Amino acid sequence: MTIKISGTGSALPEKILTNKDLEQMVETSDAWISERTGIKERHIAEEDSVASLSAEACRRALSDAGKTAEEVDLILLATCSPEMLLPCSACQVQSAIGAKNAVAFDINAACSGFLFALQTAHAYIVSGMYRNALIIGAEVLSKIVDWEDRGTCVLFGDGAGAVFVEASEDDHTGIQSMTAGSDGSRGGVLYCRERAVDYKDAFENEGIHICMNGGEVYKFAVRQVPDCIEKALTKIDLTPGDIDLFVLHQANLRIIEAIAKRLHVGMEHFPYNVDRVGNTSSAAIPLLLDELNKSGKIQKGQLLVLSGFGAGLTYGACVVRW
Ligand code: ACO
Repeated sequence: MTIKISGTGSALPEKILTNKDLEQMVETSDAWISERTGIKERHIAEEDSVASLSAEACRRALSDAGKTAEEVDLILLATCSPEMLLPCSACQVQSAIGAKNAVAFDINAACSGFLFALQTAHAYIVSGMYRNALIIGAEVLSKIVDWEDRGTCVLFGDGAGAVFVEASEDDHTGIQSMTAGSDGSRGGVLYCRERAVDYKDAFENEGIHICMNGGEVYKFAVRQVPDCIEKALTKIDLTPGDIDLFVLHQANLRIIEAIAKRLHVGMEHFPYNVDRVGNTSSAAIPLLLDELNKSGKIQKGQLLVLSGFGAGLTYGACVVRW
């Protein structure tokens, strides 16, 4: 038995911050950001929160799947930037969409959060404990970014993506293989000590923002991600050449290009939206998946690799037949 993705949805805040806008805020240039990261613009939340963006993404995923909120058994929300410590964002979403029969909780594994939540839902559903789940990846990273640090503030964006998953009648459709790993000994490469209670505090309290060793993150991603993708494929006797689309965490375009090269697969198999939404951490994979699904770029029967990687350090991959 396995699980399949039956619906996708996403939500982005209205406000767009371009590289040109950033030139007015820190010493940087559109040329530097574009060349090093491929990012041109990102969405920034003003009134929106992790919970409100997630609720909207869920309504759209449920509508795409033809399901009602009351039919949902489980809500897993992956985020590392919730507005509140208690209650969890997943419970706020449950209330907002009226999924009164669901069990709801959050998962934090940074940029691998969505992928780990998907794997958790797989375990729950295959065990028979739940029939279906809403899996959400959502971030409002703009509230924990240091807007005076040009090394990090140009990278991140806000948004939410969601998928509705359920038991698959046929074992050949849905998740076919999975890998995951963590290396807590390298946690110091990318961290945020604690979150600011509101936006102003982020400036007043030193250390309350995302701190990153960019070079180390880059090296980790280009070595570890191809390796974990190869492992997931080998388990089911596939090679990278068998895959139609690699839906990777959208950290930056240079990382995606380096991974494609290491797997010996052309960039036409690596769709991306990092140029338009930046790095949205947990939200990156479901945001891109929704974009591909709604624009008809994924055909039934195609093979996809989903892969997340980030702070922790954490990484993982899923092979999915659509
Ligand atoms: N604009 C202009 N100059 C900048 C900027 C900026 N926004 N940021 C840094 N610089 C400067 C640096 O100060 C440095 O100047 P110096 O030579 O005078 O000291 C110079 O540019 C080069 O800096 P590096 O950090 O060496 O630049 P690098 O080529 O490594 O690129 C980058 C930095 C893009 C962050 C790269 O290391 C990278 O892609 N790392 C991966 C990190 C990442 O994607 N993190 C996302 C979160 S984790 C995740 O999602 C997996």
